[in-house]
Amino acid sequence: MKRFAKVAAAMVTAGCLALTGCSGNNDKPDGDNTAATEQVEVFTWWSTGSEALGLEAMVQVFDRDHPDVNFVNGAVAGGGGSSKNLLQDRLDAGDPPDSFQAHAGLEIQDYILAGQVEDISSLYDEFNLRSVFPSDLIDLLTSGGKIYSIPSNIHRANVIWASVPVLEAAGLQATAEFASMSAFIEALDKIKAASPDIVPLSIGGVWTQVHLLEVVLIAELGTDAYNGLWDGKTDWKSGQVKAALEIFNKLITYTNEDRDSLDWEEPSTMLINGEAAFNIMGDWAPANFDSKNQVDGKDYVYAPAPGTVGVFDFLADSFTLTTNAPHPEGAKAWLQTISSLDGQVAFNRIKGSIPARTDITPSDFSTYQQTAIASFKNDTIVPSLQHGAAATIVQLNTITAAVSKFTSGASDIETFQAELAQAMA
Ligand code: GAL
Repeated sequence: MKRFAKVAAAMVTAGCLALTGCSGNNDKPDGDNTAATEQVEVFTWWSTGSEALGLEAMVQVFDRDHPDVNFVNGAVAGGGGSSKNLLQDRLDAGDPPDSFQAHAGLEIQDYILAGQVEDISSLYDEFNLRSVFPSDLIDLLTSGGKIYSIPSNIHRANVIWASVPVLEAAGLQATAEFASMSAFIEALDKIKAASPDIVPLSIGGVWTQVHLLEVVLIAELGTDAYNGLWDGKTDWKSGQVKAALEIFNKLITYTNEDRDSLDWEEPSTMLINGEAAFNIMGDWAPANFDSKNQVDGKDYVYAPAPGTVGVFDFLADSFTLTTNAPHPEGAKAWLQTISSLDGQVAFNRIKGSIPARTDITPSDFSTYQQTAIASFKNDTIVPSLQHGAAATIVQLNTITAAVSKFTSGASDIETFQAELAQAMA
């Protein structure tokens, strides 16, 4: 736990078209909400595909435990939190959902500092939560001695996924294990030579590119220097960072040209469709494989991203009670379910993440998830940039703009590096 506490300390220093289930669509999966007298509107970006299936699994437990509360699905499409600007608009306009998804770390601190979420420390006592979550995770959610959200799950960001049939067709060994980014680049070159119609490395729009960038920074800098990027100890203008940006630049040359129009699920599905060989993405990806009947080991394989063995690139989704929530009782009921053992088991089994609760039985989870449970326990934990753990929302937005400019060819590597340094200055 000390490993995580250290990171936590570093973190603290430092219309309707897009809506699914919008405008009063009371998405009870069982369609039975006649008995409900109370309601709760919950904002997430788990709006489609396998992410919606995960949310639905949680809502089923909620319906069972709180039949008197109607679940109103306020999900807005935008993987990786890329729709959270729309949440911000609602918060700023005084039209908050009752509860919303946010990331543990500096992202949640932003909402706390803005006074947009309530102190819910008392629920930790009421629901007996103080001993079931890792204490360092609770620290990460705490500000001024008060806790403002409850975590539903923990994801690992540094995972590489590979299509077994595509690798075999290219004459490559069916493995996703690469000791370094340069060893990985050799494999990408082999794919390119053997299967010119295949995309060696599939990727999506800018948030997935920021995700790739953070993984490259971990691989190339190592965990100490990576952590130093967020607490000012590592110089963004250094040669070491420049070398990492060159690797990032090289990797982008192996990706699909339509990347900017895609979210994360389409590039993941390119592996399933035999269109791409590799995808570097967080462990919401197995939910996509599972939902499309792909078999672990036969259809797809995975490993820690190249050069990141022994590292757990951490993020956690955490739910809030918004300030001036129209339905605080409904929100409380939702927070009870998302923090409960049944809720976390049902949700995470579908979502691909691991429960934030520690009182779980690993064998209740998939083979992949058991690797994540072991890694979270034993490996070095670092905070995710894209997923709200390492940087504030403003810093992330500035980095995202720099990445977009660079991958679309509107800036060179020197400008890119200078803009990243400026974002964290
Ligand atoms: C992350 C979020 C995950 C998953 C992913 C893809 O930011 O924490 O739960 O939803 O985005 O959308």
